[in-house]
Amino acid sequence: MSKTLRLGVNIDHVATIRNARGIAHPDPIRAARMAAEAGADGITAHLREDRRHISDEDIERLSDQIDLPLNLEMAATEEMLAIALQHRPHAACIVPEKRLEVTTEGGLDAHGGANHLRRYVDEMVQAGIRVSLFIDPEPVQLQAARHLGAPVVELHTGCYAEAGPDTWKVELERLCGAAALAEDMGLECHAGHGLSYDNVGPVAAIPNLKELNIGHFLVGEAIFGGLDSAIKRMRSLMDKARAEALGNRSA
Ligand code: PXP
Repeated sequence: MSKTLRLGVNIDHVATIRNARGIAHPDPIRAARMAAEAGADGITAHLREDRRHISDEDIERLSDQIDLPLNLEMAATEEMLAIALQHRPHAACIVPEKRLEVTTEGGLDAHGGANHLRRYVDEMVQAGIRVSLFIDPEPVQLQAARHLGAPVVELHTGCYAEAGPDTWKVELERLCGAAALAEDMGLECHAGHGLSYDNVGPVAAIPNLKELNIGHFLVGEAIFGGLDSAIKRMRSLMDKARAEALGNRSA
């Protein structure tokens, strides 16, 4: 079991607020700097086809001005591949993208879409970018990710986050099973989507996870208590859950 669980802070929704006015404030790069100071291990930003939040210039500035590893979330399109190859971020997470969706709905179909995805994974891996695939916690998707040669998978935690009192344990079990299988297959396993103070603990305790990516909740909480304190509290909840899980294992 890994002692440390990395926290990637997704700053997309700082850009959402900025874009609501079409001016420069609030600046997502300033948020990335604050996230670094508050203990984030990486910055995640999703450059969408419709540029609804993060812009091309944001990606350029994040690449040039932020020392933390950048995880570029992107759809598997020619345009995004060219941008990834130009900036060579530390990591690129391939996500499904639909124009009319409010947020990323469900994981990538790495199994059904393998023929389309292969070239994107190959080219970015060859360029030294750590490629991950954002998938649902399903064995068939993990197998596909491994066959495609992606070194990392990110498990979509949306079903867990949205589950009611009767179903959240089943969803948590799916995540636990998938994370264990990923490790058996030699895949580094991350998770994210919809995580909050209330639901992060059981996910952080999953021993095979190496990184959580969290955005919307942190930016929302920042309105009430500041970004620094939201990130620090999330970090400490993650660390506490991981330490307790480690303690239970060695006891
Ligand atoms: N991971 C991936 C791949 C995402 O696309 C997103 C945003 O939808 C997140 C993590 C973060 O999700 P949230 O903003 O709900 O924390």
